[in-house]
Amino acid sequence: MNAELETIAQKMVSDGKGILAADESTSTIKKRFDAIGVESTEENRRDYRELLFRSDEAMKEYISGVILFDETLRQKAKDGTPLVSLIQQAGSIPGIKVDAGAKPMALFPGETITEGLDGLAGRLKEYYDLGARFAKWRAVIDIGAGIPTPGAVAANAHALARYAALCQEANIVPIVEPEVLMDGDHGIERCYEVTEYVLRVVFGELYQQRVALEGMVLKPNMVVPGKKARTQASVAQVAEQTVRVLKATVPAAVPGIAFLSGGQSDEDATAHLDAMVKLGNLPWKLTYSYGRALQAAPQKAWSGKAENVAAAQAAFTHRARMNSLAALGRWSA
Ligand code: 13P
Repeated sequence: MNAELETIAQKMVSDGKGILAADESTSTIKKRFDAIGVESTEENRRDYRELLFRSDEAMKEYISGVILFDETLRQKAKDGTPLVSLIQQAGSIPGIKVDAGAKPMALFPGETITEGLDGLAGRLKEYYDLGARFAKWRAVIDIGAGIPTPGAVAANAHALARYAALCQEANIVPIVEPEVLMDGDHGIERCYEVTEYVLRVVFGELYQQRVALEGMVLKPNMVVPGKKARTQASVAQVAEQTVRVLKATVPAAVPGIAFLSGGQSDEDATAHLDAMVKLGNLPWKLTYSYGRALQAAPQKAWSGKAENVAAAQAAFTHRARMNSLAALGRWSA
């Protein structure tokens, strides 16, 4: 086992720290900017991400690593400092989203397959040289009538495992993200059942592709009812069901599990993580790898105006601090 990979993976999930997912693609960040009335220009995207990475307390105390989009990994701050250097100077680790997105899967109506394996070995080499020490690949599993199918889950799990193997060969820690979406009106039991199935298939494929579990981080969804479900779940239920499914499927060799927020409100995402950690007796670290749950507040506070930068940084720092407390099981509402 490669000691460098293990060290990085452990650092990504170290006590009271988690990951900032700031890897929105150009089309996703445009949606986020549309919501706050900001034009999605290269400069605005840079200014926004620069304000996050210059949030000193958050970056030094609560953010172990930042997942970047290709554009950001190459961008410079207003004063010419590479954005990657800002992250490194804060003691945080730059990471890179390497998948090319979830595309409609041929012959599997309503399901997607994540693309991006072709040429990945070469891209990983370049990303390493640009400073990335971990990567992310997201598989998307939707729940609906007759889906997911075993064929689509197997294809997505295989791609995740091939990606993870390529990363480890390039000395980059893979974040393995099989996301079961919370869209739809299904109950929490159905989310449990699908999440269990997906994780079993994913870990089977990781084994087949010889991925070292000690040198990866899992980024799963929590077990929650669909957003449109008639019966919603309590914080205690989400925590119990999520920890139960993870204990049933994720080997103890995995150093840490960093959840996605997936469209939960930012307070829910914090409360759920805190409740899971408070259950205790866990074989791996639990922490956050949140996108929306860390950024919704600062985006709203910023709204594209230079005079709001300090307020946006305060909002980001607050959410990061709350999630840090949750990862330690010390948060209270
Ligand atoms: P959310 O926390 O907004 O789901 O984003 C995390 C992420 O990286 C999704 O791929």
